Amino acid sequence: MIDDLWYKNAVIYCLSVGTFMDANGDGVGDFKGLLRRLDYIQGLGVTAIWLMPFQTSPGRDDGYDVADYYGVDPRYGTLGDFVEFTHGCKQRGLRVLIDLVVNHTSDQHPWFQAARKDPKSPFRDWYVWSKTKPADADAGVVFPGVQKSTWTRDPVAKEYYFHRFYEFQPDLNTANPHVQAEILKIMGFWLQLGVSGFRMDAVPFVIATKGADVTTPAEQYDMLRMFREFLQWRTGDAIILGEANVLPKTDMDYFGVAGERLQMMFNFQVNQNLFYAMASGDTGPLTKALEKTEPRPATSQWGLFLRNHDELDLGRLTPKQRQTVFDAFGPDKSMQLYDRGIRRRLAPMLQGDRRRLEMAYSLMMTLPGTPVLRYGDEIAMGDDLSLPERTCARTPMQWSTEPHGGFTAADTPVTPVITDGAYGYKHVNVADQRRDPQSLLNWMERIIRMRKELPEIAWGDFTVVPTGAPEVLALRYDWRNNSVLVVHNFGATSREIQLPSGAGAGESVLLVNLLSQDHSPPDAKGRHCILLEPYGYRWFRVGGLDYILRRSDV
Ligand code: NOJ
Repeated sequence: MIDDLWYKNAVIYCLSVGTFMDANGDGVGDFKGLLRRLDYIQGLGVTAIWLMPFQTSPGRDDGYDVADYYGVDPRYGTLGDFVEFTHGCKQRGLRVLIDLVVNHTSDQHPWFQAARKDPKSPFRDWYVWSKTKPADADAGVVFPGVQKSTWTRDPVAKEYYFHRFYEFQPDLNTANPHVQAEILKIMGFWLQLGVSGFRMDAVPFVIATKGADVTTPAEQYDMLRMFREFLQWRTGDAIILGEANVLPKTDMDYFGVAGERLQMMFNFQVNQNLFYAMASGDTGPLTKALEKTEPRPATSQWGLFLRNHDELDLGRLTPKQRQTVFDAFGPDKSMQLYDRGIRRRLAPMLQGDRRRLEMAYSLMMTLPGTPVLRYGDEIAMGDDLSLPERTCARTPMQWSTEPHGGFTAADTPVTPVITDGAYGYKHVNVADQRRDPQSLLNWMERIIRMRKELPEIAWGDFTVVPTGAPEVLALRYDWRNNSVLVVHNFGATSREIQLPSGAGAGESVLLVNLLSQDHSPPDAKGRHCILLEPYGYRWFRVGGLDYILRRSDV
């Protein structure tokens, strides 16, 4: 049974086809290029790939503006290439998740074009209209500073249409049963082509009531159950990983009390507090965020991430906490975005400090949930702040020291490869790092390998073990007679900590270091005294001399 719920103990790698590998030399990554790099991805040890949108799109929001849900954008290849890709993944035991962007379409989608031209079109009611400009039209924009309104007048329809995001992304009227049926059809289509599920974009908006008269949108949670049931009728092991930046008090509404709604959600609450802990050295708010998001059905799972393709959204921190993170990781206005976040990649935020990078990824791998790693993070890629908005952290993968980092043979890649400075491809690339046993890439492979051997983290309950040091977080996972303890020092100085007897469990045990020979025997009272270096981290198995899971107990 535990292996059936593959997403519980998965390691997900996310990438966008257009910036991963260009096989045909036109300056844009494609499925053929990605196929050639599947062995690399498999070698990293990840178990699933999440592809960002690759369907036909004018590309005004990097594919999050879909113009045809049933096709591959010609820049990336054909449906045939896509099936070669899912087949290649299957051969390597890799699962595939794809983005499902159904809160809105592109304004170029034939549905919207039909809807705007003819009030009697069956597609008219697929979108959300108002004859007059709603009073709250300027409220609730998602991209402040760039997006002005959530209602825009369409000169063809001569009415206002609702758009939660940019004006070229009209919202679908997701309450319309025909729209709901179409969403299921889209899911069914891609399942048939070999995917194991979807990263559902903007879930709270998908299920919210929409309309000119809606002042407080209400979530229609039953829709989640409907999506889930459909998925499982078609493909028993397919999942939805929801993008829902919501408050902990609604988590169970999204998972469903019996786990009957979303299988997975990204843990934004932990993400923001984790950056605060890294910026301040105070793990208190992170501990609270972990505890608040602890309740979840046994079959559900959190997706844990550090940086994603969007800005680091700090909107849920207090203004003071947010300022602390800005000061530490994005002090310059050019590094910030939408009044709430930081648009940089992780490595430059941490000034390329290997100790801090390891600590951050070690943490991501050992917090309660399934880690989601972004392409390029395994080699500590940087950003290009001269590019607009979020594009700065979406530059092409750096494979080698060849021109354009080996990403493309074209003279001019559509998105420029980082060339200059410490993060340029001559200094940061896969080819160099794979030859260097000490590289971050090889470290990442080892850490992923070990993480997969720790189902306690995926399945177990965690306890926060007191360390006596606010900058040191110790988490203990217990599951079916097996226990793991992970310790992270967020501080810039060495710190000696003392863990209570049996690392919280009372009995006197050896803590077996899973990453080195540096085991920690108990003192006469069963306690453990551990000296952590600046940003130091430890992974221990509690008790036993063998690091291997007592599989007979599983
Ligand atoms: C969330 C996605 O992560 C983001 O990149 C996109 O712009 C919006 N949803 C709109 O689809």
